[in-house]
Amino acid sequence: MLDAATAESLRAGLASTPPEISSKYLYDDHGSELFEKITYLPEYYQTRTEIGILGERADDIIAAGRTHELVELGSGAGRKIRFLLEALVRKNANPKLTLFEINELFLTQSADKIRADFPQVEVRGVVGDLTTDMERVGRGDGRMFIIFGGTFGNFPPGKGDGFLKSLVAQMGENDTLLLGADIVKDPAILEAAYNDSQGVTAEFNLNTLNGFNALTGANFDTGNFEHRAFFDTDHEWIEMRLRATAPNTVTVPALDMTLDFKPGDEIRTEYSCKYTRESLGRRVAAAGLGVDDWFADADNRFALALLRLRTD
Ligand code: TRP
Repeated sequence: MLDAATAESLRAGLASTPPEISSKYLYDDHGSELFEKITYLPEYYQTRTEIGILGERADDIIAAGRTHELVELGSGAGRKIRFLLEALVRKNANPKLTLFEINELFLTQSADKIRADFPQVEVRGVVGDLTTDMERVGRGDGRMFIIFGGTFGNFPPGKGDGFLKSLVAQMGENDTLLLGADIVKDPAILEAAYNDSQGVTAEFNLNTLNGFNALTGANFDTGNFEHRAFFDTDHEWIEMRLRATAPNTVTVPALDMTLDFKPGDEIRTEYSCKYTRESLGRRVAAAGLGVDDWFADADNRFALALLRLRTD
């Protein structure tokens, strides 16, 4: 059964224009596997660009943060943290790592692997949801919080601010936040990254409906929808949608709702915000953070931004 808060947020999403189904439901086991595939697609430059930056600049990033503990928020498959851990181990006699992750199985598996490969690092795992459980990391100082990839860009506009504030509430004045940021660029490059030629992204997006069905007992048929992704140049974000290709009616037992779709009707499933150093600075200012350093690749496709509490 659905808890009341989840039911409420699903109803609110469906009532908006266009109706929305949160991308939270993308990452079931099948979805996580599909996303892993996306990260290797030729059009999806983000992951390999970010790994390239880490390979070249890990020591500079660690030195800029003056840190003794890494706190990775949403650790997932754990390919990227290793670069920073190696740099931290080179610099610090008592290196620590905290992994904060919503999926307990992923968390235990990656913590065990890291313990085996980095016996000198003290590894701690915390299970939680970024949007509600930030206080579980506890207060401290000299830590570097890290959110890799496009995850921060996936927070719906406006809603990332609450998350940032709850993180800032845990931060000491020498803590930093390293944030992955996909950079605003030629829309053709951006749109290709979300409309790959093998159709993996389409399958990933359509899988949202399977997740929604599993959660609510609904009977969405993915065969009645097609994937759509486009760059909104005013807001500088990619929007992912599912568009009905045939008239169809969906019943949603857990919400006691019926949804009617005509061909062309759309459901919004995801945002992926793109940034410049300046626009990211504006975005995080309300939470009391400022961009202190910016580690981008030579082609300016992707950046790791180092944020600090603003003192002015
Ligand atoms: N964090 C990823 C991004 O914004 C998520 C993502 C990639 C995604 N491709 C997608 C989400 C397709 C929905 C549909 O780049």
